[in-house]
Amino acid sequence: MEYSKLLGFVALICFTIPMISCSSDRLFSAWPKFSSDENIKLRVNLTRRSESELGFSDRLRLAVDRSKGRMKKIEAFTKQQITGRLDAETPVEVGDGEFLMSVGVGTPSVSFEAIVDTGSDLIWTQCKPCEDCFSQPTPIFDPSKSSTFSTIPCSDSICDALGSTQTGCDPDCTFMYQYGDGSFTSGDLAYETLSIGSSKVKGIAFGCGHDNEGQGFSQGGGLVGLGRGGLSLVSQLGSKAENMFSYCLLSITDSSSQTSPLFFGEGASLSGSKTMSLIKSSIIPTFWYIPITGITLNGKAVDIPPGTFDLQPDGSGGMIIDSGTTITFLDDAAYSPMKDAIQSAIDLTPVDGSSTGLDLCYGTSSSEVTLPSLVFNFKGGVDYELPLDNVFIQISENLLCLAMLGEPSGNLPSIFGNIQQQNFHILYNNAKNTLSFKPTKCDSL
Ligand SMILES: *[C@@H]1O[C@H](CO)[C@@H](O)[C@H](O)[C@H]1NC(C)=O
Repeated sequence: MEYSKLLGFVALICFTIPMISCSSDRLFSAWPKFSSDENIKLRVNLTRRSESELGFSDRLRLAVDRSKGRMKKIEAFTKQQITGRLDAETPVEVGDGEFLMSVGVGTPSVSFEAIVDTGSDLIWTQCKPCEDCFSQPTPIFDPSKSSTFSTIPCSDSICDALGSTQTGCDPDCTFMYQYGDGSFTSGDLAYETLSIGSSKVKGIAFGCGHDNEGQGFSQGGGLVGLGRGGLSLVSQLGSKAENMFSYCLLSITDSSSQTSPLFFGEGASLSGSKTMSLIKSSIIPTFWYIPITGITLNGKAVDIPPGTFDLQPDGSGGMIIDSGTTITFLDDAAYSPMKDAIQSAIDLTPVDGSSTGLDLCYGTSSSEVTLPSLVFNFKGGVDYELPLDNVFIQISENLLCLAMLGEPSGNLPSIFGNIQQQNFHILYNNAKNTLSFKPTKCDSL
């Protein structure tokens, strides 16, 4: 049976027999929409935001500020999923992630830089005609000039994957993504050919944003969602890319001209790694929840109240792994005792490091002090041993700060940030529901 007929058949069953669970996630990961028969094996080189005109401490300060903004956005999103309301709070930048990839859209292909975002699903870029478009460094995509563009009828089940962000059928499937501060992007959901790395993948559903309001981008011109939901790139590539991707992020102190590899499909395989089972949330299917159980400092468990990291039935709590947040945020109930334990292990008086936006700083260099070893413990006895460079960051010759912050207990998940992931090859496997990791020199891949 032809794939399109098969999908129609499944959709028909889903409509006529409502008792059968036909979640869109399952449909899309099982039957990817593009017509190429070949297995996908992709390598993309990620670049860090280019702010090379700034010194390291200024770049870090901006990254910490963006992380705080992103934490607020994740909080607003979490609250929205729990309560159905979106609170307008702190201004958020639409493209607030840290890593970008080049994506070509349409035929002929028009390239733009997209923020890679493991914390959201939709792939989107701005489209002509613009009711309102942010300025972006590359030309805005004009669907009327592409021979492979087609809007998606609301009867197509991928429209359902938009969930509450689906806004109607005008005449085809339309969406609106809102951000915590009242800014939004709205437009058509459409199928297009995307050029990624050296491959072209056909029939990828993406958001074509005609009305884009708010803070906009300071870098790039769109997003590539790498969350777990049905619309993300990894879900749409599906079994052709073995439902997995991996990346290896270079250190924040490495030169910004160096790139970090991102792999889809076969290329993403990792041998000799440690593997943990992920936790799926039915309330927020987008997030990659990792099963943290505790923190160990110099071989001794930090005294964290039991249940601190638990994902609650209402969708609050837990810990997510995210490429777009630079520092790690921990629920205060875990952060405070960890900070106390670190302070007792370091025989120095902290200095005021508030200019960095970070909390615990010492007026020293990492080579002159014995730093404690820190391990994040995950379910199943899986220990993630953090190299010192992934815990403390040398901001200037005599300023060393903990690259983590506490966050008030509440709706928020804790967030495992990208400094903590640097120099690890990390594999997200949506089919096996696992996350694997292995210390790696990323520039050797
Ligand atoms: C990505 O980087 C690698 C290593 O630097 C290089 O060999 C490869 O050609 C790059 N690929 C692309 C698509 O730019």
